[in-house]
Amino acid sequence: MTDRELVDRAFQMLEYSYVPYSRFPVGAAICCGDGTVFTGCNVENAAYGSTICAERTALVKAVSEGHRDDLERIAVVGLGADYCWPCGACRQMLFEFNPDMIVLVARGDGAFVSTTLRELLPNGFGPKALVTTD
Ligand code: THU
Repeated sequence: MTDRELVDRAFQMLEYSYVPYSRFPVGAAICCGDGTVFTGCNVENAAYGSTICAERTALVKAVSEGHRDDLERIAVVGLGADYCWPCGACRQMLFEFNPDMIVLVARGDGAFVSTTLRELLPNGFGPKALVTTD
């Protein structure tokens, strides 16, 4: 699957976003090593803090289906004029599974840029940080 196709899969998710409070739909799509794609959208809640972002929806779908070690690329899209950069919580959640994940970030006109999670979360705290010396 090309980067453009993965971004388009993420755009297709915008119709499922549940965003009565922010009115800001976000879509995501993760491509695994074997080509499997897991999609997600943001799902808001009247208790605002319980909202889950699109990226984490897609990530939890992938991990809960057994895809833990082959999460290669994620596309994140929104309809804003600016690129829809992943929030800090999503960067942290994704870092756990692949710090070198490729991150495609799109804006409302369809344009997208490609970066990596390590670029977005330098010196991130991951599983290796929990290894102790004793
Ligand atoms: N949102 C995401 O889905 N992903 C992000 O990385 C940033 C923010 C959602 C959460 C909320 O539903 C809306 O965008 C506005 O913050």
